[in-house]
Amino acid sequence: MSQFDAAQPDSAEVFRIRFLGTKGQIKALMGELKNVSPEQRKAMGQHLNELKVLAEQQWESLKESQQPTVIAGGNSMDRTLPGTPLPVGTRHPLSLVRNEIVAIFRRLGFAVAEGPEIEDDWHNFGAMNLPEDHPARDMQDTFYIQQEPAWLLRTHTSSVQARVMEQQQPPIRVICPGRVYRNETISARAHCFFHQVEGLYIDEHVSFADLKQTLYFFVQEMLGKNVKVRFRPSYFPFTEPSAEMDISCLICEGKGCSVCKHSGWVEILGSGMVHPRVLENFSIDPNKYTGFAFGMGIERITQLKYQINDLRLYSQNDVRFLQQFSGVV
Ligand code: PHE
Repeated sequence: MSQFDAAQPDSAEVFRIRFLGTKGQIKALMGELKNVSPEQRKAMGQHLNELKVLAEQQWESLKESQQPTVIAGGNSMDRTLPGTPLPVGTRHPLSLVRNEIVAIFRRLGFAVAEGPEIEDDWHNFGAMNLPEDHPARDMQDTFYIQQEPAWLLRTHTSSVQARVMEQQQPPIRVICPGRVYRNETISARAHCFFHQVEGLYIDEHVSFADLKQTLYFFVQEMLGKNVKVRFRPSYFPFTEPSAEMDISCLICEGKGCSVCKHSGWVEILGSGMVHPRVLENFSIDPNKYTGFAFGMGIERITQLKYQINDLRLYSQNDVRFLQQFSGVV
């Protein structure tokens, strides 16, 4: 109906007169009904009524589409008026920190890998050198799926490392960010779910010096050039040798406070050289290839960076907490 252009201010009225008016076409057709045979009259009458309803609807929508273009005083709409601002949400601090961690490792050539949060025993434990009654399974208190005990909620994103090694031969250089679950009582210092970034680097001639230099670079980029690091010998079933890395406390700058338990140091990650048995589990030749792995909690890094002392704040959805990160990219 091009002649009833909604942009024309009088098109609704033109339409009404032509079709719905007392001298309009529908009225005229109604008048013809008396000339129709009595058998056909009823059906024809119904058709005409339907046509009338359609025409009325069309008339209404023409009137509606014209309304906003006409404002008091008859001027057209002022398109220079500022719009109504819509409130914009903010990124969650854990997402901000995760993105930052990912960006730093990307610069070193690490790709991001992801995997399922509901895992099988093999990828979470078995493949990582934690066979069924290995005592180190107690290091991570696990949620099992009741009906299907071979399935569990992953306790670390090492399970993603396992899935990468399953699909890919070295060189491998990945980081695995994601949510993990452990059966902990919720408090300011522990939660039943949290977030990790784990990393895996396997190639020929990868050494412990590479591990130290990579993690040292990461800390300097993430937390500043003045931060000191130290490595302490530790134990993980999937790495040998293993080490935990501490950084000088950012809150008291090493002088001693409650966050660092007055030691001046806080632990931020676990690491080590990938255990030969883990490599063998994925048919990677440990005589040819070596690798290092590490894992850190995103909550811990966020706590140190933004001085957030209660883990529960991350999952309470309190906008007063979340809005504080609106200026942070
Ligand atoms: N998977 C370990 C944890 O969740 C962290 C880790 C990863 C330690 C890789 C060493 C090497 O506690």
